[in-house]
Amino acid sequence: MGKQYDEAKQAWQQKLTKAQERFPERKDSFVNSSELEIDALYLPKQEALEEDYIEKLGFPGQYPYTRGIQPGMYRSRFWTMRQYAGFGSAKETNNRFRYLLDQGQTGLSVAFDLPTQIGYDSDDPMAEGEVGKVGVAIDSLEDMETLLEGIPLDKVSTSMTINAPASVLLCMYIAVAEKQGVPKEKITGTIQNDILKEYIARGTYIYPPKPSMRLITNIFEYCAKEVPKFNTISVSGYHIREAGSTAVQEVAFTLANGIAYVKAAIESGLDVDQFAPRLAFFFNAHNNFFEEAAKFRAARRIWAKIMKEKFNAKDEKSLRLRFHTQTGGSTLTAQQPDNNIVRVALQALSAVLGGTQSLHTNSRDEALALPTEESARIALRTQQIIAHESGVADTVDPLAGSYFIEDMTDQIEKEVWAYIDRIDEMGGAVQAVEDGYMQREIHQAAYEAQKRIESKEDIIVGLNEFQLEEELQADLLKVDEQLEKNQVKQVQKVRSNRNQSEVEDKLDALKQAAKDDHVNLMPFILDAVRSYATVGEICNVLRDEFGEFTGA
Ligand code: 3HC
Repeated sequence: MGKQYDEAKQAWQQKLTKAQERFPERKDSFVNSSELEIDALYLPKQEALEEDYIEKLGFPGQYPYTRGIQPGMYRSRFWTMRQYAGFGSAKETNNRFRYLLDQGQTGLSVAFDLPTQIGYDSDDPMAEGEVGKVGVAIDSLEDMETLLEGIPLDKVSTSMTINAPASVLLCMYIAVAEKQGVPKEKITGTIQNDILKEYIARGTYIYPPKPSMRLITNIFEYCAKEVPKFNTISVSGYHIREAGSTAVQEVAFTLANGIAYVKAAIESGLDVDQFAPRLAFFFNAHNNFFEEAAKFRAARRIWAKIMKEKFNAKDEKSLRLRFHTQTGGSTLTAQQPDNNIVRVALQALSAVLGGTQSLHTNSRDEALALPTEESARIALRTQQIIAHESGVADTVDPLAGSYFIEDMTDQIEKEVWAYIDRIDEMGGAVQAVEDGYMQREIHQAAYEAQKRIESKEDIIVGLNEFQLEEELQADLLKVDEQLEKNQVKQVQKVRSNRNQSEVEDKLDALKQAAKDDHVNLMPFILDAVRSYATVGEICNVLRDEFGEFTGA
């Protein structure tokens, strides 16, 4: 075998041994039902493939990471089973969190209600009718303490799907950890903190792009120094795909957004290796099995090249694309909901074979309502069956070498680069978003996809073929209407019990700091949060300073 190949292989073996010091292999030996030994990694047989192999695939845990970011991947540690959850009050959601952890979930993921996501308190007129509906209502540090009660923040990593007010919720999380005696240097988790996709696809933005990018890079800078184990952004393709994009557009627009965040952080004075190791990503796992698995492999290779060649990152942790996957919510059908269990299983399998670090599996009833406990359990069991029974986690990147997968990985990579270059020519993702370019591309793709379903070119089982006359499912989760009233009382009680003059001082200090672009606002927000200032009060101070974005 060639020198470069042999050296890379040796380096891989050394890394694997080192990784196994922290995460030993899950079993003494991996065999299938035929008692055939399963190797950790399968490699090209012919000499000719070697150079191609090193350039295109490489070893797992090595540039360009096509085969995975860890040398041993799931042979020692499964992906994190991280179910997105949150509804109603902090207490109800805390109960669901504890249930899921008891059922074997290995990481938390918080869904916040819309008022929280858009920076309004539950008693704000703008919040009426939405309190606790699509996620948990969090108004103050008190709610956050309830949400996380009994959950050891030095052991459990928590993802928070929060963007415009990300700085506020991260500070609340830090403050709860402090109350648990867990220093901020030890807490682990992820804050979504990705405003560009909100402008493109999801809509929970507050401020215009410039101040929004400032808040995002403030989090990068603050966490690099103070909260080093926390992932400071989850650059999301999930919602872009949910809005109707193709797999290529999902990767292209997400990585283009990633480039914009890296550029903004460097322009704010940060060195790329100071913050890039804590960038993370979030993708969708859609229906076309092999396209999805190839998509993830292509995304890893592209991001590694971007960080090495465009940003000259030196730390290998800056080159690794680490991502969470959620199975495609938009693929769930309201018809024959149990069919969704099969869809989700296949989508989850594509994410695992694509090397995901963390995974959420949707529940069968989510086209109709937030999941019941039973549906959420089946969704988690789906991951556990893939992990423990299917054998696919017993060797690294098993699809490698498949003529189809490697060709599809190459093709997706080529198409993604074409988009990234086009967006570069437009002046980058922020400009492309302001011009509405990505939105137009997504809408066109969504229109084409809908036409294919209506013409039955694409069959969706139970929807446009194999239908049933059926009753709407009875046992759906209902959020108690009384909740909104209770939450309003709760936030008003917090306001009456706190030291009001301290709150006013902290909010005023934040207001003054916001006037100076060069000041990192995180310490001011943390002080305000500790004084029990509310999400709405803090966000309104910044609304006064930054104004509101009125939409692309
Ligand atoms: N060998 C050696 N080390 C390993 C290993 C292996 N096989 N596997 C894992 N590790 C190490 C990792 O390096 C890491 O160590 P470090 O942090 O010290 O480097 C540690 O073990 C934990 O592993 P991961 O970081 O891989 O796993 P996490 O689960 O902690 O993090 C992530 C995964 C993708 C990096 C992170 O960003 C994450 O958890 N993201 C989740 C985001 C999420 O849940 N989003 C939900 C959004 S819901 C939404 O928006 C949809 C709604 O709007 C509808």
